[in-house]
Amino acid sequence: MPGMDTSTLSHDADAAPAEKPSVASGESTSRNLALVPIREIGSRYRPQILWHLLQLEPADRYLRFGYNATDEQIRHYVEGLDFERDQFFGIFNRKLELIAMAHLAHPRDTTEPGYTEFGASVSQHARGRGYGTLLFERAALHTINRGVDTLYIQSLSENAAMLHIAQKAGAQIERAGAESEAYLRLPEANFRTRLDQFLADHVGHVDYWLKSEASTLRDVLTSNRSDDAPAKADERN
Ligand SMILES: CC(C)(COP(=O)(O)OP(=O)(O)OC[C@H]1O[C@@H](n2cnc3c(N)ncnc32)[C@H](O)[C@@H]1OP(=O)(O)O)[C@@H](O)C(=O)NCCC(=O)NCCS
Repeated sequence: MPGMDTSTLSHDADAAPAEKPSVASGESTSRNLALVPIREIGSRYRPQILWHLLQLEPADRYLRFGYNATDEQIRHYVEGLDFERDQFFGIFNRKLELIAMAHLAHPRDTTEPGYTEFGASVSQHARGRGYGTLLFERAALHTINRGVDTLYIQSLSENAAMLHIAQKAGAQIERAGAESEAYLRLPEANFRTRLDQFLADHVGHVDYWLKSEASTLRDVLTSNRSDDAPAKADERN
């Protein structure tokens, strides 16, 4: 496919830092988005989403949800996710564990002025590699292509990393005590934004498929090795 760097398809999300992009720079996002495959995930990923959120430390749960979410509250939240209206994106490691995710809550009616709300979390060990920024860029791209002109973030004012990502992208931050709101005004969709989304989606799907094939192969090899073990022991006896 023109413009697609296939050498990035087997990116190991556990291993390498991502190139740090900037929405505000006005650069094309397609190359950055292809560097770390991000996959849109549907309702069958509810268990992985639950697993990912449950492994967040208490302080991160506080930043993500705005309160000290218990396991039970997180379970309830995940059960209630609306996969029809909203979109979810994930970054998976080689073991197909969900190590970063974003939730885009879209307005119910796109003919009315409204905004898409962004929420994200990155597993502790994978922070600082640009995944949060990339998820934000991907969210902006999908929001543009949906015809929504604003990406909105509600965040605790102490959440310096999240507010930094939003500000870096050109969002306007409104601080009101312990809470802050960020508004990123978006341009209209065009051929380029649709193509960027198409490429990014494709890369995410191919990467996931490759990882899942590799994982199946590893399982087969492991089970063959353990099947062989008694036979080898018999040969020795
Ligand atoms: C917010 C979060 C998603 C960021 O994920 P991440 O993958 O570490 O983000 P990135 O690596 O893309 O970028 C982090 C940026 O914040 C900056 N940053 C991190 N901590 C910071 C701090 N205390 N003060 C200022 N900037 C900070 C980093 O330097 C980096 O900026 P740079 O790209 O310009 O160098 C992650 O920290 C997280 O999951 N937090 C817990 C849940 C949460 O707060 N979710 C957001 C609420 S919606």
